[in-house]
This record gives sequence, structure tokens and C-alpha cells, in this order.
Amino acid sequence: MSSPPYDGDIDLARKTTHSIRLMKKKGKKIVMLTAYDAPTAAILSEVGVDMILIGDSVGNTLLGYESTIPVTLEDVIHHSAAVSRARPDCLIVGDMPFMSYKVSTQQALENCGLMLQEGGAEAVKIEGGSDSVVDIVRSVVDAGIPVMGHIGLTPQSIYQLGGYRIQGRTADMAEIMVKQALHLEEAGAFSMVIELVPSETAKAITEAVSIPTIGIGAGPYCDGQVLVLWDMLGLFEDFKPKFVKKYGNVRELIKNAVTEYLNEVRDGTFPDETHSFEMTEEESGRLYGRIKPPD
Ligand code: KIV
Repeated sequence: MSSPPYDGDIDLARKTTHSIRLMKKKGKKIVMLTAYDAPTAAILSEVGVDMILIGDSVGNTLLGYESTIPVTLEDVIHHSAAVSRARPDCLIVGDMPFMSYKVSTQQALENCGLMLQEGGAEAVKIEGGSDSVVDIVRSVVDAGIPVMGHIGLTPQSIYQLGGYRIQGRTADMAEIMVKQALHLEEAGAFSMVIELVPSETAKAITEAVSIPTIGIGAGPYCDGQVLVLWDMLGLFEDFKPKFVKKYGNVRELIKNAVTEYLNEVRDGTFPDETHSFEMTEEESGRLYGRIKPPD
């Protein structure tokens, strides 16, 4: 008889921060995608995605913003709650948006708490690797909230970074990032995203830390990968960064289906009788005056 699964077993259906950490130890690649709603979360869970990130990328993908800066805590909590209502087997990670955790430790603790209590997230993601961010990560972890770090390109700092530029391109910069990653690990982060860095930099970080690294635009050596779902599904025509592989063409699918609907409504072929409801013959006869109403 095989022994029952224990908490932290990578084979448990329901993913936890423990099972995610164990995946690195066992050399099993970790798969993460963003999602912002219940039906999509259910699909990701059904196919076995390990982690769902309710990213502040909801701002660019669904809310029509040009960056993640305008996204509020309420926005992410709203979408995270929708994801959690699908009860996916994936670990649910809520992304802490711009200025929702850097004002003070108290602010970070309160807002990260809300992400779990109201957003149904099981962990939070916090951008940055500076000493002050590491201190915040330590406090949040001390409060019992699992934290995923995020280094390399941190989109909430685009104005300071001068745009969406590749980070850690030199050996010196890579060394600084390795130090940041080690500090985040020491502060208790259970994993970290590495965004938009050369593969060599991501490899050096991944080898230096014992917690899983999840890459986006960071090459093949990370312990796992994350993509923004709607980028990899091909929702956007003009957004074609090198690191996104399009696995679908949802834009074409939507356009084709909507065009067909539009044509059928205009030419009267939709709705036909298979998509309509009917009265009994007697009732329709009375309605059209073919049967006399009872006295
Ligand atoms: O907001 C987001 O979707 C992210 C990923 C790109 C890692 O932070």
C-alpha cells in the first residue's frame, strides 16, 4: 500500500507553497500563468498549471491601461476573488500593485492581509530587491503570509528604469541581482519571478538560491516559467515582445465568431427554431385568434 500524500508532496492535487518549493528540489519544472476570472482559472486548473498569478498585468490586458501603475489593490482583489471562487488546484498568488506595500510595514501587512482575506489568494507577489523591499518581505512572511519576490524588470518602476528595458546585462549587474535574490530568500520568500534578464543572469540566480525561480523573458534555466495568459493566447495584435510565444490566436477566434453572429443576426438566420422557445399549439392558436377564448 502506498503511503498517503503529506503536505508539501508535489503529487498532491492541490498545490501549496511547500509543494512548489519541493518541485525545485526534485528538478520538476514549475508552470505558472496569469488569470483574472473564474472560468479561465478552472481551465488552467483542469490542465494542471501549478500556480495562477492574478497579476497587476490585469491593467494592460483587461482594464485598458497602458501600464500597471494605475491598477489598485481593489482591482487585483476583485479579480483574485473571482479566481479563488473557481477553487483551482493551482496555488493562487495575488500581485501587490503599485504603492500598495512600500509606504510602510503597517501598510504592507494590512494590504497583503486583505489580498488573502478578501481576494482569496494564498500568497502575494511583491516587486523589488532593494534593502527596504527585503525588510517588507521579512515582515509579511513573519506575519504568516507567503511571499513571492520579483526582480529584474519590475514594471511598477518603469519610470525609474527608463522603460521596459532588459536588466542585469553586465556581470556586475548580474552579481547585484544574485545578491538581491539571496536577500529575498533569507527574508523568507518562497519563490521569485525573474523578469527580462539575459539567460546567464537568470542561471546564476537560479543556481545561487534554493527557492524556485520563475522566469519571464529570462531564458530556459529558471526553475519555472510564467507568461501573461492573454499574450500567449494571442489576444493582442500589436504586442509582440521576443519572450512571448503565441500558443493560440484567440483574437482571430473571437473575430470570426462575432462576424458570423453579426451576419446571421443581420440576415435573420439567427435565432432559428433550435434556439427559440414555442408556445403549445393551443396557446399560439388563441394568441393569433384561430381558437376562440373560453367564455
Ligand atoms: O503582472 C504580471 O502579470 C506579472 C508577470 C508578468 C510576472 O507580474
